[in-house]
Amino acid sequence: MTKATRTQVGIIGAGPAGLFLGQLLHRQGIENVIIDIRSREEIEGTIRAGVLESWTTELMHELGLGERMMQVAHFHSGIALQAGTERHHLDIEELTGGKKVTVYPQHEVLKDLIAARIASGQETHFGVSDTAMHGLQDHPRLSFRRSPESPTETLYCDFIAGCDGSQGPSRQAIEGRTEYSKLYPFGWLGVLVKAPPSYHELIYANHERGFALLSTRSPEIQRLYIQCGPTDNMADYPDELIWQELHTRLATQNGWTLHEGEIFQKSLVGLRSFVTDPMQHGKLFIAGDAAHIVPPTGAKGLNLAVADAVYLYRGLEQFYAGGGCGRLEAYSATALKRIWRAERFSWYMTTMLHRNPQENAFEQRIHLADIDYTVHSRAASQALAENYVGLPLDS
Ligand code: PHB
Repeated sequence: MTKATRTQVGIIGAGPAGLFLGQLLHRQGIENVIIDIRSREEIEGTIRAGVLESWTTELMHELGLGERMMQVAHFHSGIALQAGTERHHLDIEELTGGKKVTVYPQHEVLKDLIAARIASGQETHFGVSDTAMHGLQDHPRLSFRRSPESPTETLYCDFIAGCDGSQGPSRQAIEGRTEYSKLYPFGWLGVLVKAPPSYHELIYANHERGFALLSTRSPEIQRLYIQCGPTDNMADYPDELIWQELHTRLATQNGWTLHEGEIFQKSLVGLRSFVTDPMQHGKLFIAGDAAHIVPPTGAKGLNLAVADAVYLYRGLEQFYAGGGCGRLEAYSATALKRIWRAERFSWYMTTMLHRNPQENAFEQRIHLADIDYTVHSRAASQALAENYVGLPLDS
């Protein structure tokens, strides 16, 4: 027997877009069900970037999710931009009229969202299989199995939110879409290290051997990255080589030292930029990585997903309040306007800070001039700062 149930909004994916959307809808009394092919442990254990835009932290507070963030997150007043051995402080807080840099990793945000969702009793199914969408024009419904052995269930809904990441099925369901993409000829090797912090803020470094980034997780655990080749393997990077590259790329001339410690997690990612347009088709709306990817250099991925969730929520809220479909119809155009600005910023930070083997010496000098201009011009540093802490949702 096939089981059939009903909800108002069916959400595919328990990542940032799906979970924020679910909480926003729930607060407004709009019923939703979230399904995800991953287990809760996998979702809560996936390591991603860690910087929240200032409005994202405000939204966490508004949703009653600020408590652990206030205890665990790191709040910095600026970032460091480094070219060769010259390190410059950008006072983000002063440049933005008081906005801080909040380092709170994505999986911590997801833990808070999932705990709140479960506590409020909203229906959530982890580890589902055979997810499919049907009737997207008039009678949307989702089918799935709770486990590979379970019978197929059908979930009838008014709308489907495709928050299923870059590999999920929902983007493929958008007919007539245009996809824009750029691959960068390099990747990032990321490590988690048991060591005390080496610096009081994030350091983004452009070195002739390639980009390096120093970030943090806790007083005992630090997050570091080095630029690597696009097809490099983990076997190419024994721990000694990683430390050697980090020491070389982050070195200054004033005796600053990088604290070493045990490397207990390593990951490799390729860098790419991607946007799909439109982000809706019939009763299906896609959000987050399903619709766009940014390279991690500005740490915009999670924040962009949350912005999509807010725009989609506003459309659904208007519809259920009897205000019509205006905002839902405009969802894609509204979201894409801001997405393209964040794509521009992420591409700009990536291009300025990395060594691109396909570029010549002239182009590399231009990037160093860009860093020099950014750190010495108030207008240029303010432009970077306002993007870094996050552009407003209504601009
Ligand atoms: C991180 O802490 O993982 C991180 C921070 C800043 C970035 C990217 C990643 O731009």
